[in-house]
Amino acid sequence: MNEHVKHVPVTDWFNDFDHTDPQWTEDPFPIWDELRGKCPVVHTDRFLGVYLPTTYEAVKQISYDTETFSSRRVVVRNVRPEITSPTPPITTDPPYHKPAKQLLLPPFTPQAMKKLEPRVRAICNELIDEFIKDRTVDAAAAYTKHIPTRAIAHMLGIPEKDGDLFVKWIHQILELGIHNDAILMQAAQEMSLYFFEQIEQRKKHPTDDLISDLMNAKGPDGQPLPDPHVIGSLRLLLIAGIDTTWSAIGSSLWHLARTPTDRKRLIAEPHILPFAIEEFLRAYAPVTMAREVMKEGVVAGCPVKPGNMVLLSFPAANRDPAMFPDAGKVIIDRKENRHAAFGLGIHRCVGSNLARMEMTVALEEWLKRIPEFSLDPAGTVTWSEGTVRGPRQLPLLIG
Ligand code: HEM
Repeated sequence: MNEHVKHVPVTDWFNDFDHTDPQWTEDPFPIWDELRGKCPVVHTDRFLGVYLPTTYEAVKQISYDTETFSSRRVVVRNVRPEITSPTPPITTDPPYHKPAKQLLLPPFTPQAMKKLEPRVRAICNELIDEFIKDRTVDAAAAYTKHIPTRAIAHMLGIPEKDGDLFVKWIHQILELGIHNDAILMQAAQEMSLYFFEQIEQRKKHPTDDLISDLMNAKGPDGQPLPDPHVIGSLRLLLIAGIDTTWSAIGSSLWHLARTPTDRKRLIAEPHILPFAIEEFLRAYAPVTMAREVMKEGVVAGCPVKPGNMVLLSFPAANRDPAMFPDAGKVIIDRKENRHAAFGLGIHRCVGSNLARMEMTVALEEWLKRIPEFSLDPAGTVTWSEGTVRGPRQLPLLIG
């Protein structure tokens, strides 16, 4: 039901916001600033009813209150179908969440990332080799997209060349799926079938990779995880690991392409890169999640009612001047920076070490080999819509 809902442009952001409106997709920051100035939590009747918190405190309160706000639905969509294929841990609440999360932590430790780093560095250089001789490049299509895709494929033990397939599924699930349930179901089924086949292969021929690790992991009852749990977690790792980091690297390059002073400073003072990465994560936080309101509650003085969703905007929290002085400015050596880009509370990102490593290596290798670059005035930058925001077309001039 309710497919292909026709978009009605927003004229009243305070009473009728829509996070898929082109104005939000293009430049959401002034919208959040305006809303935050009026009220910490606003509501829209669109998408069957959604609240939007825009202050850090409100986003934090919701993230920590897993009784009032459930993760059983984490994307705001036009439909709320029955939940048939969960992706633990992100779609689970206590007490089921913790054991599902603990299974996913070991492969993403800082030590594990150190081992993966040389492969990511090689991936970046292989990609740069393809276009460095050209005068222009779409960095989103030719560079930023492939780094997380190939890195996670490498970890899972699936062919890096299947990356285009993963990107297609993620686009269908996170963007087209907001308005079209059939496309979402189709993509989820294709993904499940893909991983089902990978699992079957490994039952006959065990491998040394993340898929086999999950297959061999034991659940809280001491038994191996059932196949649907393994498949759900694998789908989650692909969905969570690709668009997010693609967006974060892309927004960082976009910023450096249009801010030569920061670009030159990073080249002259490479030791500030770790601070710059945190600031890019804060200022251009790609991920906005959702929660379902399960019972009556009060957030930052505003009543919330069950039956509604919450658009949990970590990006808006990161721009709250009550938490970050000069929140609207990108300060690449910002010292105090407790941003919420990786979430807050029990669902905080499993892949933050991987994401940070990929961002660092992607920027280091790019700046080493392409120190001079700018936005190509002949092209257009486009941004993805909905849950994950980042450049999907990033035309740059090299040199
Ligand atoms: C810059 C890149 C990334 C950003 C900004 C990001 C952001 C987030 C955020 C905000 C959450 C919290 C979700 C919630 O509260 O509902 C989350 C959870 C998660 N992320 Fe990431 N993420 C990134 C990269 C990755 C990568 C590379 C992976 C793994 C391959 C990953 C795996 C996960 C998983 C499994 C969860 C669920 C954790 C749980 O439910 O306890 N993420 N991420």
